[in-house]
Amino acid sequence: MKFFADTADVDEIRSLGEAGMIDGVTTNPSLIKKAGRDFRDIIADICEATPGPVSAEVTALEADAMIKEGRSLAELAGNVTVKLPLTMDGLKACRRLADDGIKVNVTLCFSANQALLAAKAGARFISPFIGRLDDIHIDGVALIQEIRTIYDNYGFETEILAASIRSANHIKDCALIGADVATAPPAVLWSLAKHPLTDKGLDAFLKDWAATGQSIL
Ligand code: E4P
Repeated sequence: MKFFADTADVDEIRSLGEAGMIDGVTTNPSLIKKAGRDFRDIIADICEATPGPVSAEVTALEADAMIKEGRSLAELAGNVTVKLPLTMDGLKACRRLADDGIKVNVTLCFSANQALLAAKAGARFISPFIGRLDDIHIDGVALIQEIRTIYDNYGFETEILAASIRSANHIKDCALIGADVATAPPAVLWSLAKHPLTDKGLDAFLKDWAATGQSIL
């Protein structure tokens, strides 16, 4: 399973990369607002900080305008993935950009049928938002399971990129189901390494080691 960092914070991306924890990055207009810098500069910096796919989202609503924005974003770096919303215009733009060899991440997916359409439109990634479904009491992880089954039934190569992840449990559940990628905020990714028994065990080992009076080097 691949991990993407869902952030526009370049320092966090570098840190996660140094720990070998990420295979790519996703951004969205809200994350760009939070970063508070020029959009194109941020995407160029992130693409330099990570060799994996970096999703950059268009903001146009009409297909031709989305295609124009998407092509311009794709020119920023070889690892840009153009992010398009799951609308009819987004699907049209997806087909055209995919036919031109540009990788597309179709975002804001909330149903299995939407995911089916994105795959038929040639999307490289489909982003089902599981946390936002959970927020309205619909089982987000169940949606990942449905999409996995449908894509496997028909051999679609579109990768399932579980998004809107809120917890380590979300990541584990998506991994058990076979999502191809999980994109999560840095804090959730860092939390995967934490376990209280690891801390407790290490503390006890170090105390006993100190009592031996020895040093390794
Ligand atoms: C995915 O690409 C989105 O950027 C993201 O996962 C949205 O998450 P949120 O629902 O926490 O805003």
